[in-house]
Amino acid sequence: MTNLLDRTLVRLLPAVPKPLVKLIADRYVAGAHLADACRVVQRLNAEGKLATVDVLGEEITSREEALAIVDAYDEVSEAIGHEHLGSNLSVKLTALGLKLDYAFCLENTEAVLDRAGAFVRIDMEDSTCTEDTLRLYRDLRGRGRDGVGIVFQAYLRRTLSDVRALADLTPNVRICKGIYVEPPDVALQGFDEVRENFVAALDLLLEQGSYVGIATHDEWLIDQGLGLVERHGLSPGEYEFQMLLGVRTKLANELVRAGHRVRIYVPYGEHWYAYSLRRLQENPKLAGYIAADTIGRLVPGRNGGA
Ligand code: FDA
Repeated sequence: MTNLLDRTLVRLLPAVPKPLVKLIADRYVAGAHLADACRVVQRLNAEGKLATVDVLGEEITSREEALAIVDAYDEVSEAIGHEHLGSNLSVKLTALGLKLDYAFCLENTEAVLDRAGAFVRIDMEDSTCTEDTLRLYRDLRGRGRDGVGIVFQAYLRRTLSDVRALADLTPNVRICKGIYVEPPDVALQGFDEVRENFVAALDLLLEQGSYVGIATHDEWLIDQGLGLVERHGLSPGEYEFQMLLGVRTKLANELVRAGHRVRIYVPYGEHWYAYSLRRLQENPKLAGYIAADTIGRLVPGRNGGA
């Protein structure tokens, strides 16, 4: 039933006037320009949070577009240094040419790393990218690039074995549930089994000595994460929590107040509208969250500001 409602919301979206979509997207996307992202990061830093900046690119189809994304990351890196921002970078390999040519993508990722003073996180995309993304990460580390990290998705059936396979690199990891719609033979479908796999992967990663960004807004998982970092004897600064811009701000503030490191994912770019629609169409569940959250804000006492 919820699924049906979410899908209906998604179908209606293109009919919603753009300014209204913008009103909603404003909470989740910093803006169209780098200056917007810098302003948001400054505000987050003032609230005691770190950031990771993502340049929104449309699905790229040419080398020129991939090179333009490299240039955009250059500008972000320069701004982070110049404005002393507490932020690193998040990149999507498809935007750097993964689907065009592996070697070209590797070269572009190295170019981003070369010019970035900050750490670079490689986001994990849909399962058609998993193998090449892990391979590229291993290649980068083999070339002596250490300021780079990977993402594991708890919903993938292969994740625990991938965590073990990369153990020799002690990777810096973000663990999240996974956002793409994947078939049952590739990804776990049950809410509880994804949670269980998240906890198992996090435990294994901490056991193997990885620095982990625990990326979730699920309070149960955050509690499990807090229990695990304590059991592994870690101090604040030896792990972090990560959330998306505009989601569960109060919860993020509570973690900051309790002394934990919190990093917020800050997407920005000219293609915010197409990006928002595509993300919603890829994952109808998101439309349900946003609708519930927006209604929560309009109707006092319902979920507002969470
Ligand atoms: P869950 O989906 O159960 O959400 C818990 C609660 O949080 C919901 O009930 C809702 O109230 C709220 N919520 C969650 N998402 C919301 C939203 N978008 N809008 C409004 N409310 C929302 N995925 C991936 O495949 N590859 C990646 O590289 C990344 N990177 C990434 C970075 C960071 C910093 C985060 C926080 C997340 C990602 N993700 C991701 C997305 C991730 O896989 C997952 O889809 C979302 O975080 C939602 O899952 P939760 O763990 O929050 O649980």
